[in-house]
Amino acid sequence: MAETILVDRYLSNEEQYRNLIPQLKSLLSPSDELISNLANCTAVLKQTFEKISWVGFYLYNGKELYLGPFQGKIACTTIKIGKGVCGTAAEIRETIIVPDVNKFPGHIYCDPDSKSEIVIPVIKKDENLFGVLDLDSNELNSFNETDKKYLEEICKFLTVDIL
Ligand code: SME
Repeated sequence: MAETILVDRYLSNEEQYRNLIPQLKSLLSPSDELISNLANCTAVLKQTFEKISWVGFYLYNGKELYLGPFQGKIACTTIKIGKGVCGTAAEIRETIIVPDVNKFPGHIYCDPDSKSEIVIPVIKKDENLFGVLDLDSNELNSFNETDKKYLEEICKFLTVDIL
């Protein structure tokens, strides 16, 4: 069933998350295919935040990360664990906020216009790595602790209720 997401551009960053999370929770369903849920999750984030230039999942196949559902320009198809921001977040299993991608050693350039980034690891209930959620922006300093808090909540919801 098609659904509409209500977005109010005048809300603060935190209010945007508070507005979107209940909508996301009602939109995504374990009875839908996983890829469909992940695809809609990226669409909700891209529709809500003007600051996001690219948002997508990199999924873990037991060997490396590979490109999953995303919104934005074409991107690298595989990333090794420990490489770039995505591979590092997957390896250390912690969210990484990169205020300026030029200052992150080993940052992988998929889009030359990308200036800042946040990557959240997605860990399954059995503690195995599922993948990462990667958000890019064409502005410096686009992501902060508020983004981290709510994006981690979204990834937790995915692992507990959807995966
Ligand atoms: N910049 C990422 C690669 C993925 S793209 O940004 C979509 C990284 O360094 O891991």
